[in-house]
Amino acid sequence: MTEQTLVLIKPDGVQRGLVGDVINRIERKGLTLAALELREVTVELASAHYAEHSERPFFGDLLEFITSAPVVAMVVEGDRAIAAFRQLAGGTDPVEKAAPGTIRGDFGLATQFNIVHGSDSPESAAREISLWFPSLNS
Ligand code: PPS
Repeated sequence: MTEQTLVLIKPDGVQRGLVGDVINRIERKGLTLAALELREVTVELASAHYAEHSERPFFGDLLEFITSAPVVAMVVEGDRAIAAFRQLAGGTDPVEKAAPGTIRGDFGLATQFNIVHGSDSPESAAREISLWFPSLNS
């Protein structure tokens, strides 16, 4: 089943020069890029993107971090792209949850600085793609 998912390489991933590694893993998995942009993130976009976490204690830190420097936003597509990218990313906590061999497991140490974001469901993917790439009809 061909799907699209919204992938972000967060400020830590961009600043650490991991863009190529992340894209390489996406392409080696067999997924393809349908859109890609390096961009600054406004507080408005960040708040909308992470709206479901607005009551969580780390929400302020999350917004401050994601708006602190440019991110790479991508629409990634392919067979079961949502689950496939989350498999590549590994669990949210790069040490406790992400296995070696995953992006977070290989490159991350802290949950806040976990390098990538990937949509967690078809509903989230549709919502996030329309937020980040409103000109795409997905
Ligand atoms: S998940 O995948 O939704 O179950 O993960 P969750 O633990 O709920 O975290 C949701 C997003 O919040 C980020 N996060 C944090 N940011 C800053 N500080 C702390 N302590 C923190 N804990 C979690 C986490 O990386 C998730 O971001 P995304 O971009 O969705 O991966």
